[in-house]
Amino acid sequence: NFTPNAFVEEIVSEMKEKIGNDKVVLGLSGGVDSTVAAVLLNKAIGQNLYCIFVNNGLLRKNEFESVLDQYKGMGLNVKGVDAGERFLSELTGVSDPETKRKIIGRVFIEVFDDESHLLTDVKWLAQGTIYPDVIESVSVKGPSATIKSHHNVGGLPDYMKLKIVEPLRMLFKDEVRRVGATLGIDPELLGRHPFPGPGLSIRILGDITPEKVRILQDVDKVFIDGLKSWGLYDKVWQAGAILLPVNSVGVMGDERTYEKVVALRAVESTDGMTADWVHLPYEFLMKISNDIINKVRGVNRVVYDISSKPPATIEWE
Ligand code: XMP
Repeated sequence: NFTPNAFVEEIVSEMKEKIGNDKVVLGLSGGVDSTVAAVLLNKAIGQNLYCIFVNNGLLRKNEFESVLDQYKGMGLNVKGVDAGERFLSELTGVSDPETKRKIIGRVFIEVFDDESHLLTDVKWLAQGTIYPDVIESVSVKGPSATIKSHHNVGGLPDYMKLKIVEPLRMLFKDEVRRVGATLGIDPELLGRHPFPGPGLSIRILGDITPEKVRILQDVDKVFIDGLKSWGLYDKVWQAGAILLPVNSVGVMGDERTYEKVVALRAVESTDGMTADWVHLPYEFLMKISNDIINKVRGVNRVVYDISSKPPATIEWE
């Protein structure tokens, strides 16, 4: 039976012993896992933990700024690196999902590596890897290994030559959340839906442009804020919006429009391996659809994804 307090005590003393006075670098993503890993390590080694939070330009609207402030408020030794333009320029013209992931993985490592070279004498790389990440990365072999290359596991270039420390390696997601609660982390942060490392890039079908990112961030914000204000956010395991690579005809006043279609997706799941679409109330869907079409320039149609996994993966790419 898992007890968060005992886990914290044990892992903190284990980390202290293992790491000693060495310096550790850790990439924060804004998600639950890396945050809990950082707070645990901060407890063990304090300011010898150097956190780096990279903006890949594909985060949710305003997320980079607000989460960075939150991290600073938690006393973490964190540096925010805004590399949005670099990522977006490398992604220009790229439509293939796996190529997008590879580019984002590579650029992330380059940015992260540049940053960690600015720190002297770092010996360790800490990661927020949790048990399901470990399983999924080692169990899928052969052609299906490329179903989705989760770039946050094992994506370490040789030239970094750092030792790896993964305090959450044996934990499931709900255990990570309970550990986070024990550590006094903001419940809102702990209750956040999972969000993929490649961010909105795999929810923009086809090629990525700054304008498409802007549209999707705005749509996503209406949807997520709506879920929160209707008390539905915590009832859903993961939700987000997808920008489709099609235009559809609409009318506005006397004018014919030819604009983008967005899909909304909300799923129930325990581990992301299987998922059911959520029966969101019709009144909610009606309100959100109106809000999106009225508030987000460039969108004239909203559809709701009623597919479960398998076979439909949670992300569309
Ligand atoms: P799928 O789409 O495979 O997603 O049903 C299952 C869970 O994994 C997330 N996901 C990713 N996370 N890098 C990540 O860090 C990725 O490339 C990636 N692809 C999917 C997805 O958001 C869902 O929570």
